[in-house]
Amino acid sequence: MPCPALPDGFDFTDPDLLHHRVPLPEFAELRRAEPVRWIPQAAGLAGFQDEGYWAVTRHADVKYVSTHPEIFSSYLNTAIIRFNEHIERDAIDAQRLILLNMDPPEHTRVRQIVQRVFTPRAIRALEDNLRARAHAIAQGALAQRGSFDFVTLVACELPLQAIAELIGVPQDDRAKIFDWSNKMISYDDPEYAITEEVGQESATEIIAYAMNMAADRKQCPAKDIVTTLVAAEDEGNLASDEFGFFVLMLAVAGNETTRNAITHGMHALLTHPGQWERFKRERPATAAEEIVRWATPVNSFQRTATQDTELGGKQIKKGDRVGIFYASANHDPDVFENPDDFDITRDPNPHLGFGGGGPHYCLGKSLAVLEIDLIFNAIADALPNLRLVGEPRRLRSAWINGVKELRVTAE
Ligand code: HEM
Repeated sequence: MPCPALPDGFDFTDPDLLHHRVPLPEFAELRRAEPVRWIPQAAGLAGFQDEGYWAVTRHADVKYVSTHPEIFSSYLNTAIIRFNEHIERDAIDAQRLILLNMDPPEHTRVRQIVQRVFTPRAIRALEDNLRARAHAIAQGALAQRGSFDFVTLVACELPLQAIAELIGVPQDDRAKIFDWSNKMISYDDPEYAITEEVGQESATEIIAYAMNMAADRKQCPAKDIVTTLVAAEDEGNLASDEFGFFVLMLAVAGNETTRNAITHGMHALLTHPGQWERFKRERPATAAEEIVRWATPVNSFQRTATQDTELGGKQIKKGDRVGIFYASANHDPDVFENPDDFDITRDPNPHLGFGGGGPHYCLGKSLAVLEIDLIFNAIADALPNLRLVGEPRRLRSAWINGVKELRVTAE
């Protein structure tokens, strides 16, 4: 029985819908009445448009799809960014070089190499540096007179610095990477007057920048991560173009996501009675995970069925697109008690904000959680009286649950 409360033409990939709000009532209706539903049109996501897709909305089903890459492939496009011909391979091949668009065993090979950068030890080594930066960011905001934009002044800076630090991008080049990353993600949003071409050019520029970095280290090896990742003589290491695409992915995957988690987190802390006071008093280590559940900065990913299969009582055909909606899974009452409450002490918190498990589970999760923890502790120390002076201005995107501006004051 089709879900009665969902009007014909309703489309979770429509950027105009997400421009205003995450469609939580519609997700709730689908989870209850038709947890796997065919949506015949797809306005928003690249690759979805003409074909329609299955909307998968329950926590258990999102996990199932994520952990069965042999049935639900990423190779046939998770559809994030399109490239132009500046890259020497054709566009389709270029997409394949992104870790997110690979399937095992290719994915396993590349993931094993790049995850060396993300060991707990490597992340711990960044902690003091990032704590000092978080402190400096909060102090910078404290110096503002009157209201200021929380996104540009606070939320943007730490994620960028963390990735740049990890990769070894020199300080002078960091603003460039930030600018490219912003342009790539904002082209759906007319307010920013960034065309798709500009977005794609920025992707090309990041890749070219990283490939230059890789080529440079091949000539002059240094004691850094780039050298480790691309050292050609060590079998199994990354080619320069693979490295280029890896940096591109980090610039989006690690930058926008964490920034939006921080902004949504600040908004949620200030709008849910008692939560900011409680955070300042108790500093619960559970807050960062709840912020990611609440924010769900990546609304969904897609997979493609490699065979006919059944899911949630529906017959899925080989080649069908399948949208896995983390934003819905994270409010599933089968898993979360009072799922629509924002509770910084929620524990356990098996949210799917970092993915549904399986081979593509977020590589940067520990780094993201550390960053969120550090920045909110720094804000609580330096800006305890922070308050909102406006509503968030959302990013127009069906894929990223983003905020472009959030005005606050510390006075
Ligand atoms: C993958 C979310 C921060 C790097 C993913 C996925 C999600 C996600 C949903 C896809 C999982 C899947 O398909 O199963 C987030 C959120 C973040 C965040 C919400 C912040 C709050 C970061 C950071 C980095 C990062 C800080 C790196 C610096 C990656 C990479 C992948 C990934 C490399 C691809 C892994 C693969 O395909 O094997 N992330 N992420 N992410 N994320 Fe994150």
